[in-house]
Amino acid sequence: MTVVVETTQIFKDNLFKGKVLFCSGGGSGICRSMTEAMVNHGAKAVIFSRSKDKLEKAAREMCLKTGGEVFAIAGDVRNPADIERAIKVTIEKYGQLDFLINGAAGNFLSSFNDLSYNAFRTVIEIDLLGTFNLTKAAVEHLKKSKGAIINVSATLHYTGTPFQQHAGAAKAAIDALTKHWAVELGPHGVRVNGIAPGPIASTVGMEKLGPAFDTKGVPLQRMGEVQDIAQSTVFLFSEGASYITGVVLVVDGKHLIKIKHTHTPIHISY
Ligand code: HXC
Repeated sequence: MTVVVETTQIFKDNLFKGKVLFCSGGGSGICRSMTEAMVNHGAKAVIFSRSKDKLEKAAREMCLKTGGEVFAIAGDVRNPADIERAIKVTIEKYGQLDFLINGAAGNFLSSFNDLSYNAFRTVIEIDLLGTFNLTKAAVEHLKKSKGAIINVSATLHYTGTPFQQHAGAAKAAIDALTKHWAVELGPHGVRVNGIAPGPIASTVGMEKLGPAFDTKGVPLQRMGEVQDIAQSTVFLFSEGASYITGVVLVVDGKHLIKIKHTHTPIHISY
């Protein structure tokens, strides 16, 4: 699904001029909007995910729309060799790396009964190991630039959302990495924060999971939009957040996760 982001300029235009962003999952959904917001504020961006054609199309569209520079590198976050090659190409092309977004994720709704060994492992590998792999490959460059990381997680594990144990477990561990890395990388000048989006309209996640989520009754009276995550990204990467690290910023309108129990045939008994 293509998400077209209408970026409102809350922050100054050239905030990230001369900076370089690498974003996994940047070809679609929330991560595309995060990337586009950074490019709108002057950063050059590399987007990385599996589907080469989709990724290159997204990069072309973002370049046209922003007048900035977005470069696509195809690969799988589960494969350290792909990741190391992508970081090497980024450094060869731009000479530096300032910001990293760990956003690549895989998901589907599945009950415990239906979730195979391989299905659980697949989501853990994409979300959690993908986050570790990319950061491992990028960290020395981030230390050099005194850069910053944003790990994208979710709110699924706060309540223990049904049909989401695979993604929830991965995202909980990603939140843990955010805190561990903030402590370990802080002395090197690298800030590490997380963003935990609630249900965000018109995204791959909501297309897949939305039918089961009850999004009525959000206290802020609306669904989240990709723009909400994009603006949070710009803030967390900006100097305005220079004393903020190890924080997971929840961007969910205080959505209270509810699952429609009409989402049959899966039956949950408590
Ligand atoms: C049960 C399923 C399944 C489903 C796949 N599997 N889909 N099990 N229900 N709907 C099982 C398969 O049967 C297989 O197990 C195993 O998972 C691996 O499947 P593959 O298709 O071989 O894996 P792969 O090609 O790597 O694809 C990974 C994927 C895919 C996660 C299944 O959907 C994907 O890559 N999606 C990327 C985009 C995406 O999902 N983005 C949304 C993120 S949303 P067996 O045992 O048969 O071998 C998000 C937001 C959360 O993170 C917050 C929302 C509020």
